[in-house]
Amino acid sequence: MNPREPRAIGGYFELELAPSAATLHAGSLRFQSSRAAFLALLRSMRPTAVWMPWYICDAMLEPLRMSGTPIKRYGLDSTLRPQPVELARDEWFVYVNYFGLCGHQVSDVLSRFPRERVVIDNAQALFAQPTDCLATLYSPRKFLGVPDGGYLVTQQQIEMPTAIDDASLLRCNHLLTRLAKDAEAGYIDYAAAEESLKHQEPLRMSALTRRLLAGIDYEAVRARRVANFAFLHETLQRYNSFKFPYDPEAVPLCYPYFGAPSGLREELQAERVYTPTYWPDVASATGVPAFERDLPGSALFLPCDQRLSREDLFPIARRLLSRVA
Ligand SMILES: Cc1ncc(COP(=O)(O)O)c(C=O)c1O
Repeated sequence: MNPREPRAIGGYFELELAPSAATLHAGSLRFQSSRAAFLALLRSMRPTAVWMPWYICDAMLEPLRMSGTPIKRYGLDSTLRPQPVELARDEWFVYVNYFGLCGHQVSDVLSRFPRERVVIDNAQALFAQPTDCLATLYSPRKFLGVPDGGYLVTQQQIEMPTAIDDASLLRCNHLLTRLAKDAEAGYIDYAAAEESLKHQEPLRMSALTRRLLAGIDYEAVRARRVANFAFLHETLQRYNSFKFPYDPEAVPLCYPYFGAPSGLREELQAERVYTPTYWPDVASATGVPAFERDLPGSALFLPCDQRLSREDLFPIARRLLSRVA
């Protein structure tokens, strides 16, 4: 819905939020999702093909299918560094800053491939700075309690949609239910909200999502995630088969633990500790290399978000240690 003039004054109140103060990635183009932003980029620039990692969510393949762009795939090594590929003229290369921990790998990608044809997917790295390349994508709801939204940072001229997303309100049920009741009560609405973002034409970010994003204390989010991650890393790194250079400045999505004992995810779930699977579709994709095929089943992605403290995380770490140490 487009804003009406003049602004309404008086009458009943809207939901009271913290004052509008903050913006993250101020110069970005704002869409209803990161995949919609990617679709707008593809439609505006029409690459001949795009190299995608095998290890990526299906959502990021949607815009390629919708725009009829041929997809090529590349593998990763055990440090999540891309294997060599022959990038032909007018082809693009997409790399994901996995878990918000792959700043070194992003620099490596930019030194190996022509940066004007590299897209960095920061859906898992909301706080990472945009890189000097063709485009950087963000998906704020992976880090924050907002219904939707996607940022695109690019120097290119992108054809922006004229229509504004008016479905955000319908995607708020799970956010409110988790507050009013509990996590389990809102799960079906959460799944429906995610479903409603599939196969959508690009739209401008809704006024509701913009306002919610403007009221967030980003410094508090950053500090809590960094501290929680540091605790998990300190406690678990010896046993974790994912070895990565620890960057105390990085603001992670989660703590990735590779080589988790089987059944542990279900044990945690029984105690109401919910961990995502990044990404279940990868394991069954035709032609997927062994490393990527095995990752979704053998990795555990522990939460380190801003709602949690060291006291919340300690029993989770202890349970994992009791199986591996
Ligand atoms: C790495 C990655 N990139 C992009 C996306 C797509 O983001 P959005 O859901 O905002 O379109 C996702 C997940 O959905 C993701 O995990």
